[in-house]
Amino acid sequence: MGATTLPGDETSAPNPPETTRQIQLRKSVKDGRYSWRLARVPVPAVGDRQVLLRVHAVAIQRGDVEVSEMMADVFGIVDDRTGQVGGADAAGFVVQVGRRVESVRVGQKVVTQFFPHYVDRPLDATMLEKALGWTIDGVFGDYVVIDETGVVPKPDYLGFEEAATLPSSAITAWTATGRGNHLGSADTVVVQGTGGVAAFAIQFAIAQGARVIVTSSSEVKLQRMQAAGAHHGINYRQVPEWSTRVLELTGGRGADLVLDMRGRATIDQSMMSVAYEGTVALVGGLGGYDASLSTFALIGKGVTARGVMAGSRSDFARMCEFMRRHQIHPLIDKVYAFEDFTTAMSDLEAGHFVGKLVLRLREDP
Ligand SMILES: NC(=O)c1ccc[n+]([C@@H]2O[C@H](COP(=O)([O-])OP(=O)(O)OC[C@H]3O[C@@H](n4cnc5c(N)ncnc54)[C@H](OP(=O)(O)O)[C@@H]3O)[C@@H](O)[C@H]2O)c1
Repeated sequence: MGATTLPGDETSAPNPPETTRQIQLRKSVKDGRYSWRLARVPVPAVGDRQVLLRVHAVAIQRGDVEVSEMMADVFGIVDDRTGQVGGADAAGFVVQVGRRVESVRVGQKVVTQFFPHYVDRPLDATMLEKALGWTIDGVFGDYVVIDETGVVPKPDYLGFEEAATLPSSAITAWTATGRGNHLGSADTVVVQGTGGVAAFAIQFAIAQGARVIVTSSSEVKLQRMQAAGAHHGINYRQVPEWSTRVLELTGGRGADLVLDMRGRATIDQSMMSVAYEGTVALVGGLGGYDASLSTFALIGKGVTARGVMAGSRSDFARMCEFMRRHQIHPLIDKVYAFEDFTTAMSDLEAGHFVGKLVLRLREDP
C-alpha cells in the first residue's frame, strides 16, 4: 500500500483523520432500486497508483438520479452494490499519493473525471469500464481514493465549488458543442432544457460566437438562461411543436446543431429543427432512451446524428483552457451543506433549478 504524505504543512497536506463521511448506495431488497445513506467509515487506503483526495465540494447531476434505474439495465450490474460510494463530480485537494503515482503530487488542487481511464480518444470499451459512482466507488465523501488518471488540475481561476461542476456536465457539453472549434457566428444551436449540461452548452456555444436558442418548461428558467446569454427562448409546454418556432427564428433554415437531451420525447422535434446538413447531438434520455430515429429523415436532410459520450481527460484539459480564456464561470443555482444531500437530490429530481446544484464539504482554504 505505500503512500506519501507531506507532514505538517496545513496549507498543502494535513494528515487525514481516521474516519470519513460518505454517501453510499443502498439497494432495496424489496424492489432492487437504489437509495442513498450517509455513513461514517474508515478513510480508505491508497493503492500504488491512487491518490487520496480531501474533497471540498461535489456537484450532483442527473446521472446520480438515473443510477437507480440504469445500474442494471445500462451497466449490467446486478450484484448488490450496497456500500458503494456514490457520485462522480468533485473538486479537492490531494493529501496522499500511492508509491507509483507519477502525474499527481501531494498538495495539488484537482477535479475528478467521471471515467478515470478515459485518458484520450479514440474511445473504446475498456475506458468506460470504470465509472465513478457507478461501477466503482465515487466521490461523495470527505476523503476518497481515486486512480491517478481520474484527477486533473483544477483551473486556478475557479473555486472548488465551481470546479466540482465540471466533470460530468461541462465535458459532455464540450463534446456536444464540438470541442471549441466547430461553431462560429453563422451557426445557430438549439439547447434543450436548463440543467447542468444545457447551461454549459449555452456558455460554450456563445463563447464561440454562435446564436443560441434554448427550450424550457418554464418562463422563469428561460429568462435566467437569456440573462446568461442565450439569444432566444422557447417554452415547450406552451409550444409543444417548438421546431416551428426554431424554423421561424432561423428564416426557415433550421439550426446547425441541436442538442437532444430527452431522447424519445424530443427526437422528432429535434429532427424537424435541424438544418439540412446539420447535426443532432444525442446527449441524454430524460424523456426515454428508447428513441427511434427515422433514417429517411436523416438521409433526406443529410443530417449527422452523433452520440455524445462525456469526454476524455485530454479533452477536459483543453476545455478548461478554453473556459479560462473566455473566463467562463459555471452557473450554480444553489450550494447545500453536505448533510443536506437528500434535499439537494429532491430539488434535482424536481427540476427546480437552472445550471448546477453543489454540496459543500468544507470552506475554500
Ligand atoms: N452523454 C453523456 O455523456 C451525458 C453526460 C451527462 C449527462 N447526460 C444526460 O444528459 C441529460 C441531461 O443531464 P443534466 O445533468 O444536464 O440534467 P439536469 O441538470 O438534471 O437537467 C434536467 C433539466 O432538463 C429538463 N427536463 C426536461 N424533461 C425532463 C424530465 N423528464 N426529467 C428531468 N428533467 C427534464 C428540465 O429543464 P427545463 O424545465 O428547463 O426543461 C430539467 O431541469 C440526462 O439525460 C443525462 O443523463 C449525458
